[in-house]
Amino acid sequence: MIAAYQALCQQRVDGALQDLFVPPSAELTRLYQAMRYSVMNGGKRVRPLLAYAACEALGADATQANGAACAVELIHAYSLVHDDLPAMDDDDLRRGQPTTHKAFDEACAILAGDGLQSLAFTALLDPALSPQSDAIRLSMVQVLAQAAGPAGMVGGQAIDLGSVGLQLNQQALEFMHRHKTGALIEASVRLGALASARAQPSQLECLQTYAQAVGLAFQVQDDILDVESDTATLGKRQGADIALNKPTYPALLGLDAAKAYALDLRDQALHALRPFDAAAEPLRELARYIVARRN
Ligand code: IPE
Ligand code: IPE
Ligand code: MG
Ligand code: MG
Ligand code: MG
Repeated sequence: MIAAYQALCQQRVDGALQDLFVPPSAELTRLYQAMRYSVMNGGKRVRPLLAYAACEALGADATQANGAACAVELIHAYSLVHDDLPAMDDDDLRRGQPTTHKAFDEACAILAGDGLQSLAFTALLDPALSPQSDAIRLSMVQVLAQAAGPAGMVGGQAIDLGSVGLQLNQQALEFMHRHKTGALIEASVRLGALASARAQPSQLECLQTYAQAVGLAFQVQDDILDVESDTATLGKRQGADIALNKPTYPALLGLDAAKAYALDLRDQALHALRPFDAAAEPLRELARYIVARRN
């Protein structure tokens, strides 16, 4: 079921994203090519899926969340382009292809990332993609800015890079993961819920609990896959965390305990969805998928 749902959502978000990479003038062709290259390259689209599924869980049509879905994937793609740069994780392979700074050049990759971040807000505010009221769109912009910025993903990346070679305790590791990965995943769920235009405060609270657990589980599983998957399956270099001496859950707890923790977080996420009916089934499936995925 999740595979079919994933394919449907991927098609929907890719259709909307496609239109954002038309260069407004010939001089900008290379920059737009680099942005397109960084986005239209077979990502799993987990964050758009979460946005669509949260919107549907509240009984709205998923297409209401097209702006939210594009926006979170654009921020995510930008974060990956910069994450792979030599100054950060220095990776050559992403989604099975050369990283953007390898396929283009470093300056172009930095600017493509910058451009993708701005495009995220453009997409979120495009009435054709986000047909909500101005008030709802304003709150969506606030949610995305907070999650992407220094108190969210960017802050988490700063902690990550500042922690290389250090022995973080579990609390510090969790703080880092909640920022670098959790913040955008939480925003994906919240934006999808807001896009439904019918989210009640109590529902937002349950969804927040769900998203916190899923967001942390996602990075725990990413850390696990870095240890036990392989480069061809991952589409990115296996063992990169170990090579860079990054603090990770398997490094701190051991592989088995890290796996048990991921499953525990999945169960916490499912528990938070108890008040929801069958419309939340895609969200439930996504929680299961996130800790079972192999790439
Ligand atoms: C990888 O994210 C980076 C993390 C935040 C752990 P994904 O595993 O969602 O990567 P893609 O989008 O499918 O390539
Ligand atoms: C990246 O975390 C999180 C981001 C905000 C991009 P990682 O550095 O673990 O992601 P991968 O493993 O390179 O995809
Ligand atoms: Mg990194
Ligand atoms: Mg990395
Ligand atoms: Mg990783």
